[in-house]
Amino acid sequence: MAMLTWTIIGLLALCHSSIAYTKFPPGFTFGVATASHQIEGAWNVNGKSENVWDRLSHTRPEMIADGTNGDIACDSYNRYLEDVEELEYLGVDFYRFSLSWARLLPTGRIDHVNPDGIRYYNDLLDALAEKNIEPLVTLFHWDLPQTLQDLGGWTNPKMIDYFRDYADLCFKEFGTKIKSWITFNEPYEICEDAYGDEKKAPAINSHGVGNYLCSDNLLKAHAESYHLYNETYRPVQNGRIMISINSIWYEPSDPSNAEQVVLAEVANQFKFGWFAHPIFTVEGGYPAVMVENVARQSAAEGLSKPRLEQFDDYWIQRIKGTSDFLGINHYTTWLVTGAGVDPTAKSPSWLKDIGAVATMEVGGDSASEWLRVVPTGFANLLRWCKSSYNDPPIYITENGFSDLGTLLDYDRIKYYNDYLSEILNVIYDDGVNVLGYTAWTLMDNFEWRAGFSERFGFYYVNITDPERPRTKKLSADYYRDLIANRELPQDKRYKISQK
Ligand code: NOJ
Repeated sequence: MAMLTWTIIGLLALCHSSIAYTKFPPGFTFGVATASHQIEGAWNVNGKSENVWDRLSHTRPEMIADGTNGDIACDSYNRYLEDVEELEYLGVDFYRFSLSWARLLPTGRIDHVNPDGIRYYNDLLDALAEKNIEPLVTLFHWDLPQTLQDLGGWTNPKMIDYFRDYADLCFKEFGTKIKSWITFNEPYEICEDAYGDEKKAPAINSHGVGNYLCSDNLLKAHAESYHLYNETYRPVQNGRIMISINSIWYEPSDPSNAEQVVLAEVANQFKFGWFAHPIFTVEGGYPAVMVENVARQSAAEGLSKPRLEQFDDYWIQRIKGTSDFLGINHYTTWLVTGAGVDPTAKSPSWLKDIGAVATMEVGGDSASEWLRVVPTGFANLLRWCKSSYNDPPIYITENGFSDLGTLLDYDRIKYYNDYLSEILNVIYDDGVNVLGYTAWTLMDNFEWRAGFSERFGFYYVNITDPERPRTKKLSADYYRDLIANRELPQDKRYKISQK
């Protein structure tokens, strides 16, 4: 079956190559994204408490590539009106940003609400409303209050209640102004990178164990906040709520190699399916291959119970269908080359549970070691989502390219152009229901463990200057033209030639 799919994908790609679409369908919307810890700064100001990224970057600065932190970042806490000016220049329909849990609830729990946090986000929301820019707001973009991490963070089942309470506060306080919510940004990064590894804070590195405890709790917390919104707030606030799932799309390096085809599918199930399958499929629950693989490995390790178990019927039903749209963050594609376990894989681990080897030797490069430029992989992912998840309405909630910060950022422009072109292909040729697109990111910001060494913004930010001046890059004009005309720009100054 997977083999047949790849043959069809190949044939479709051949047919597609001759047609160049440039116009976006009516109603398609464009936005740009940021996240609280990456831009706000003011890390300990006016009642905000420490979050897990403050803790990591202060106590283990050697873990951040350039030793920077989010103490000031882009200073958006003080300069949010500059952010709004930039958004206005771009002409975006919506602005995706996230709320800082530790700014709103310094203890992490609902027992103490920080009035300054409420004030800050109301000011930002009012400034956006004045410019007619819709907010698309993420509740959790990785900056967990340290108080909750001290209790085990996402490995603790009590997090389901804490997150629900936090979501409740946000819906109650901001729900008349915010009509589009995202519960979690990139659950894979949260569970695998932060708990199963040390690639993200709090860097727990409980490989093969903490990552799965996290996914059990995170998916339940997502479902509970969805139901809360659906039952209590939606009837009066009329908004929508979704989750943003990230993907590195895995493809067989040789589509005629049956083993690689199967392994790529297993890898996609472990990566995207881990969080998408429980929410977006008819049967619900974790992907069968994941449950089987982990059970087999766990038995071999002598465990009496698998490290990951399927949800019971109650939770399968409770989690299923809890997202109005499929939010996709996508940047890159990796190639699967064959069976066997990567010799660097820890034991036990998510990677070992997959049993596949991936290589990045594909496409053009960027400033991020993990980000290779493979526009056609995006189209393949989107077609796969359509067929795997029953043709869901899709928002691209992130897509973007890193460099070292050049102002004439032709590589970024080409990336956007080629990836957006693939979106047009799947909309028109395959009927994939993509409704909107979000570029990452408004301005260069704190790129987690890469600090400011990898830059994704439309605006360059000088972090050596306390005023944090922002300078427009050429890609900002490209995006502005695209949005103004709802069409891929043809202007020669962008140095891109349409197919
Ligand atoms: C995904 C994350 O959501 C965002 O925070 C990050 O900066 C970008 N990818 C680029 O790595």
